[in-house]
Amino acid sequence: MRVLVTGGAGQLAQALRKTWLGHELILPEESVLDLSDPDSIRRVVAQVRPDILINCGAFTQVDRCESEPELAVLINATAVGWLAEACEAQRALLVQISTDYVFDGTSRKPYREEDPTNPTSVYGRTKLEGEYQAARCSRHLIARTSWLYDAWGKNFFNTMLAAAAQGRPLRVVDDQWGAPTSCRALARQLLAAAEHGWHGLVHASCAGETTWHEFAKAIFEAKGMAPDLSPCTSDGYPTPARRPAYSVLDGAKRRKLGPDLMPTWMDALREVIDAPELDGRPDV
Ligand SMILES: NC(=O)c1ccc[n+]([C@@H]2O[C@H](COP(=O)([O-])OP(=O)(O)OC[C@H]3O[C@@H](n4cnc5c(N)ncnc54)[C@H](OP(=O)(O)O)[C@@H]3O)[C@@H](O)[C@H]2O)c1
Repeated sequence: MRVLVTGGAGQLAQALRKTWLGHELILPEESVLDLSDPDSIRRVVAQVRPDILINCGAFTQVDRCESEPELAVLINATAVGWLAEACEAQRALLVQISTDYVFDGTSRKPYREEDPTNPTSVYGRTKLEGEYQAARCSRHLIARTSWLYDAWGKNFFNTMLAAAAQGRPLRVVDDQWGAPTSCRALARQLLAAAEHGWHGLVHASCAGETTWHEFAKAIFEAKGMAPDLSPCTSDGYPTPARRPAYSVLDGAKRRKLGPDLMPTWMDALREVIDAPELDGRPDV
């Protein structure tokens, strides 16, 4: 399959590059495929004529979205509509990556695909609008995931390790529950999803649940590090964007569709630590 990937420099796009080895992947630079420019979207999609377009590009800085809502709307929502139109014209499958932050976090049990959404942040609202835009393409798969990280890229995992290496004391919130998900696990699941013809809306995060503080503790234990780490509450660590207190995604639909390749978050973490570099395509 010929696969066009937006946001090619991001952590999930890089995981796709390292795991979708039997397929032709095209990851244009942002100067070539700029999500804020509808002409560049139309031009690149018409040139590449992909079987699948995976939209990994997004304005992912959750707090910055609060102060730059217009840019968040443009990249996370409006651009997805342009992608949907371009994919429709090529009869391509549009894979849109969405987020657990479409939920408000008041649930006490994992969210199912059909549960009502109610985002509490600009990021969550614009990503939800992105879901609606993606659904305008007749061939679409919307994969909601959560707490992405891997050994590469800007993410919580690397931030924790860098801070600990500097000997800084770390206070990490212990009242937000979710499922850390390695980009490589999601990339493999997306490949299986494409090969098995999944469509519509599907939750795709690692199994199990934890808090950011417990996740940090698990990272340090697995790395044999013992930094000065203490828990705090969300109130004690105020941020511009309000995050859901509980955003675990139910995986029953995914298991029913099969194959379910999502490991537990602990197993995924062990893999990232034991094999930080995948033997994928070489870096370019
Ligand atoms: N990270 C998470 O915890 C998480 C959780 C749930 C869902 N998701 C979703 O998963 C997807 C992949 O996220 P990720 O973690 O891989 O994010 P990421 O590492 O931040 O990658 C996103 C990429 O999009 C690029 N981008 C921004 N504006 C663009 C534009 N105008 N044109 C083209 N590219 C542009 C970014 O470039 P710059 O860095 O130069 O801005 C970045 O390389 C996103 O849809 C995100 O919303 C992420």
